[in-house]
Amino acid sequence: MDKKWWQKEVIYQIYPKSFYDSNNDGIGDIRGITEKLDYLETLGITMVWICPIYQSPMADNGYDISDYYQLNPEFGQMADLEELIEKAKGKGIKIVLDLVINHTSDEHPWFKDLLANPASSKYRDFYVLKPGKEGKPPTNWRSVFGGSVWEPLQDTGEYYFHSFGVKQPDLNWENSEVREELYKMINYWLEKGIAGFRVDAITFIKKDQTFEDLPADGVDGLVKCTKKTRNQPGIETFLHELNERTFSKYDCVTIGEAPGVPYDQFGDYVGENGYFSMIFDFKYADLDVASGSEWFKRVDWDVLDLKKLLFTSQKELQKNGWGANFLENHDQNRSISKYIKEEENRHYYSGTMLGAMFFNLRGTPFIYQGQELGMTNDKRESIDEFDDISSIDQYYRSINEGFSEEEALHFINLRSRDNSRTPFHWNAGENGGFSNVKPWLGMNENYKTINVQQQELEPHSILKFYKEMIKVRQTSECLIYGVIEPLMESHPTIIAYKRRYNKEEAVCYFNFSNESQAIELENGSYRVLLTNYKVKDQSIDAASFMLRPYQALILQKKEESCHEQI
Ligand code: GLC
Ligand code: CA
Repeated sequence: MDKKWWQKEVIYQIYPKSFYDSNNDGIGDIRGITEKLDYLETLGITMVWICPIYQSPMADNGYDISDYYQLNPEFGQMADLEELIEKAKGKGIKIVLDLVINHTSDEHPWFKDLLANPASSKYRDFYVLKPGKEGKPPTNWRSVFGGSVWEPLQDTGEYYFHSFGVKQPDLNWENSEVREELYKMINYWLEKGIAGFRVDAITFIKKDQTFEDLPADGVDGLVKCTKKTRNQPGIETFLHELNERTFSKYDCVTIGEAPGVPYDQFGDYVGENGYFSMIFDFKYADLDVASGSEWFKRVDWDVLDLKKLLFTSQKELQKNGWGANFLENHDQNRSISKYIKEEENRHYYSGTMLGAMFFNLRGTPFIYQGQELGMTNDKRESIDEFDDISSIDQYYRSINEGFSEEEALHFINLRSRDNSRTPFHWNAGENGGFSNVKPWLGMNENYKTINVQQQELEPHSILKFYKEMIKVRQTSECLIYGVIEPLMESHPTIIAYKRRYNKEEAVCYFNFSNESQAIELENGSYRVLLTNYKVKDQSIDAASFMLRPYQALILQKKEESCHEQI
């Protein structure tokens, strides 16, 4: 694969509602991002992905768009966004927006027109409508956020389809008029000077057209819809056309949110002529639950499981193209809480080790806001304290499946998307310096100790480590472009890999345990590129080395001891 400009980017994901509130209404906003550009610049990131800021009733915090061309006034005006793009550019930071084209809000004018004139609306064919079956919904498919994918269209006897929430009707991609409208909108934004898009839920745009029932898989009598609605045959025609009519006309970056794509199709998605620049692979992020959409099916896992999933994903991406590596995002629980045993949690060491392990894999690294501080999961005492629609659904589903309220609360506390959506911790002051007024979502109380100001003062902090880690990558072609080869594949608690680029070699070791562990090094002499412990010697010549508890160690093999490889 030829080198691409977006391979060397370091991307920072912002959940705008929770980043910084510039006008003290309790809600983060675009100006808040602009005011914090210095922070992002000193962190060293080169691109920002902002979750949806378009007009929306916010049933799913912006993933339900009611006008693709307007911004949500809570976030700001178009002039604010233009100012952000401009000022960010001055600091060498590009802006990527979220693109939500599988569905709109039910408050989008197209859908409102349909509701007002169900029989005659010219937008009837913009959505997926079907007559019911003997007074029941057309199929027994369950939506991602719970309940049937079908919702009655007024009292017409017809139903409309929604893969996600009731207020998120799916667009009918079979209709070329819909596709034309979307392409026009995408090109409008690309013309505005954004660097590209993160493309939401894109594997859902094609539905199996037979609309058949499937055997139920839950006590609700429904079955997970994804078998018939995700990555269905025929999607390739839509994705190809989407790429051809929009992205391919610009030198932009596209990051597909592409759950459900089997490995043998990665080439179509991210190969040299793929639909996207890169995709997120979710197979390892959901290793603590049986599936991303059933949080009550908890799974015991160990480091070997994580390693296997991770390296399979890395090898497949390497064979076919390029990946987007992430440890956290706005749909996941916090990584320290997910991957590190509570009794072993050593905040600085665990957070830096985890960060470095993901960051130096092959692919473009993403950092989710707060990850660079080691923000953790929050604990809520009652279902009323949750905002996320998915958590509320999972709570009631768990209870229906026979779990107690206490158990249900436990599952959602572990997995809730609210865990990563709590406001960002700027300092130890009131509301963590996020806002002068009560934030839209409760703060994680540990902002008093885990915050930017504090970590800038400490001699060693996760934040300082991230800054160094980003710098190290920016100056190492090997860590950016190098091929990846797993090392120590059967070791139970160490994840290790080699990166290799022309004559350069870097070896990376990560100790996922609270005990020191020996690693064997190939002959040669090494220079320490990055570690989260103090090192006496910047050079290592020994054949073996003791990794300390939760140590991350990245070594560059000195050139004279590298073998030239093809
Ligand atoms: C994606 C988004 C998620 C949203 C869903 C529906 O998975 O990341 O936050 O709820 O799509 O748009
Ligand atoms: Ca605000």
